[in-house]
Amino acid sequence: EKIYIGVDLGGTAIKVGICNEEGQLLHTYEGPTESDKGGEAIVSNIERYVRLIVEESPFEWEQVAGVGAGVAGFTNVRDGIIILAPNVGLKDFPIRELLEKRLGKPIKIDNDANVAALGEAWGGAGKGIDNCVCYTLGTGVGGGIIIEGKIYQGFSGLAGELGHMHVVPDLEAIQCGCGQMGCLETVSSATGIIRMAKDAVARGERTSLSLVENIMAKDVFDAAKAGDELAVRIVSRAAFYLGKSLASVAVVLNPELFIIGGGVSKAGDILFNEIRSVFAKHAPEPVQKGVQIVPATLGNDAGMVGAAGLFLRS
Ligand code: BGC
Ligand code: NA
Ligand code: ZN
Repeated sequence: EKIYIGVDLGGTAIKVGICNEEGQLLHTYEGPTESDKGGEAIVSNIERYVRLIVEESPFEWEQVAGVGAGVAGFTNVRDGIIILAPNVGLKDFPIRELLEKRLGKPIKIDNDANVAALGEAWGGAGKGIDNCVCYTLGTGVGGGIIIEGKIYQGFSGLAGELGHMHVVPDLEAIQCGCGQMGCLETVSSATGIIRMAKDAVARGERTSLSLVENIMAKDVFDAAKAGDELAVRIVSRAAFYLGKSLASVAVVLNPELFIIGGGVSKAGDILFNEIRSVFAKHAPEPVQKGVQIVPATLGNDAGMVGAAGLFLRS
């Protein structure tokens, strides 16, 4: 029996999972990325976690038929190079070649949100749907476009970088990790939400968040649910720009389904109701018809399943 390993490489954690040929996730392991130690250390961590999980499983190394990895950054899929991953601290990094050397297995590389989209389309919220668009709201805002059941890669494998859609008006725009101003990621990521909350507290705005020591995105959602006006404004702002970006994507791609995942999506109705209403207000009627906006269902597993799926689904 063959097995496939899916790796989800993020800024803080590396998640590794073993999948069988049906794409079922059988074992998982999570360890720190240690991005501050540089590319070599990251690659050696990946190698260590991959070897470890196989050792601890009932499978043999010989059964590993391939290792797929989703990377949190602009990734040249064809050449297996991470072009720019600010949240992981990597630039022009030939990750596929390095992993091939260390692991001696076929390696496939893709963007983290692309593989999460593939995972969701395959066994999650998009099961049975051919055309869907997935957003991941975490440290950054990622995107994945599934067309006819496959990841859409674009010219150089950079399609679906939805977090860098320019949505915030210039006067309110701040700089994004990609170098541009006013990207969706600056307002709709966990990082953006935390920044808006901390800025407001520093300005002395009245909010229950001023009592929170180290504000996390979840604190902002909890405060919003409890009726804190500032927190409600921040969540609405995150949802507003997301809703507008969905409306733009809808006229370009006409997807049947939008899937929204990542830690921020756990905010639930307070976020989704606003996204849906902004989408309804801004998308032309014909492209709204029958379109659904739903939370992701695989949670933290989507990246690993989708990364292993690079071998099973392409
Ligand atoms: C990166 C994307 C990534 C996303 C989520 C963004 O900042 O540009 O490549 O998919 O964060 O990790
Ligand atoms: Na993407
Ligand atoms: Zn950007």
